[in-house]
Amino acid sequence: MDKDTAAMYETEKATLYHADFLNIADGFADGSIDLVFTDPPFELAGGGMKNGKLNYENGEIFRNCGFSTKYIAFNRWIPEIYRILKNERYFYVMTNDRNLFSIHKACTDCNFKFCELLVLDKKMTVPSTYYPKRAEFILMYRKGSYRKGHFAGSTVIEERIPRGKEKRHPTEKPVAMIEHLIRCSTQENEVCLDPFMGSCSTGEACIKLNRRFIGVEIESRWFRTSQNRIKQL
Ligand SMILES: C[S@@+](CC[C@H](N)C(=O)[O-])C[C@H]1O[C@@H](n2cnc3c(N)ncnc32)[C@H](O)[C@@H]1O
Repeated sequence: MDKDTAAMYETEKATLYHADFLNIADGFADGSIDLVFTDPPFELAGGGMKNGKLNYENGEIFRNCGFSTKYIAFNRWIPEIYRILKNERYFYVMTNDRNLFSIHKACTDCNFKFCELLVLDKKMTVPSTYYPKRAEFILMYRKGSYRKGHFAGSTVIEERIPRGKEKRHPTEKPVAMIEHLIRCSTQENEVCLDPFMGSCSTGEACIKLNRRFIGVEIESRWFRTSQNRIKQL
């Protein structure tokens, strides 16, 4: 499958692909994207693998949620992000504590420059073997030289994770947090990509900020959720 034959939903402000990002990455031209924000699939410390499928929520094991996908090695997709991104642009990638070091290695191996480690304070704790966990992490990188942004706030971002009835996806992230990061590091009408869009939280943030959004999702269920979310916006 390539980008031109993948199932697609397009509006004036967003293009959503129902595809495996690895299968369509080739179709994105070098240096064509202004920002990448993503919350990728990754392996869980506690196992999380059931019949070759992952089950997790907010970085923790999650059972019977209908969200099942296979982990993709970071060094298979991060070099594609580097190629697709324009020079002097930013890449934000969410992670838990266990995957932070491998993601960082994959990013620096392909020449991304480390900018910042941001913390999402979820304002709720989840049980852990050691200390109850209340944070997720956002690694920030740049391709090429520094680009002046509108960097505001601090390295700790406090936002509630969607829960209960407001929740569309088992690992859904707060739109307000994504909006803040996109506002700080892009300008209006620039193009943002989320290669693992889930329920399209990044898409909602982009549309609210008047940025153009491109999203990719492998699972039909979340692709449909994303499509409906964009329609409602
Ligand atoms: C951690 S979730 C993202 C959740 C999203 N941040 C949200 O707020 O809804 C990762 C998503 O990547 C999707 N995914 C996994 N492998 C993929 C692939 N190879 N290509 C595209 N999407 C993929 C999964 O189905 C899942 O919905």
